[in-house]
Amino acid sequence: MGRWPTGVAVVTSRDASGDVGMTVNALLSVTLDPPRVLISLTEGADTTPVVRRSGIFAANFLSAAQRPVSERFAKAIPPPEKFAGLAVHRGLTGAPLIDGGLGYVECRVRSATLAGDHVLFLADVVGLGLGGDALPLVFYHSTYADPQGEHGLSLPPSHP
Ligand SMILES: Cc1cc2nc3c(=O)[nH]c(=O)nc-3n(C[C@H](O)[C@H](O)[C@H](O)COP(=O)(O)O)c2cc1C
Repeated sequence: MGRWPTGVAVVTSRDASGDVGMTVNALLSVTLDPPRVLISLTEGADTTPVVRRSGIFAANFLSAAQRPVSERFAKAIPPPEKFAGLAVHRGLTGAPLIDGGLGYVECRVRSATLAGDHVLFLADVVGLGLGGDALPLVFYHSTYADPQGEHGLSLPPSHP
C-alpha cells in the first residue's frame, strides 16, 4: 500500500470528555447520493471509542502546509496536547473543525463494523465546508510527498 498515494485528514470528534482527533488516510468516498464516507480507525486509538459513543466525526482535509498538524495528530499524546494552540471552530455536529485546511466533511455514523483490529465507520455526510486553494498534503511511500520537490505537485488550473 506504500505505492498507493493518499491525501491526509485529521478525524476529530467530541463527547463529554472533550475533543479528540487523529491523523488518517484510510478515508473513502462511498456514495455521492446519498453522500456517505467510510473511515477505518484502529481500535486502540483514543479517538475510536469517542467516535463510537458520540456517533459523530469530522474529517478535516489537510493542506501541504499543515504537515505539522498531521504529525501532531499521529502521536500517541493526550488529546488536549493535540489541540493546544490550534485554531478550530464548530459546525453542525460540534466536532472540532480545524482552520486553514482544504475543506472538511461533518458526519453521522450509520454503522460501526469490527474488521480485525480496526473499526470501519460508515457515515452520512451532514455538513461540509471548503477552505482556500492550496496544495494538498500527500502521503506516499510511508512519508509525506514534498510539494516543492523535482516530482512535486502542482495545482490544476482553477475552476470558474
Ligand atoms: C499519514 C498517516 C495516516 C494514518 N492513517 C490512519 C488511519 O487511517 N487509521 C488509523 O487507525 N490510524 C492511522 N494513522 C495512525 C494514527 O494517526 C495514530 O495511531 C494516532 O496516534 C492515533 O491517535 P489517538 O490514539 O490519540 O486517537 C495514520 C498515521 C499517519 C501518519
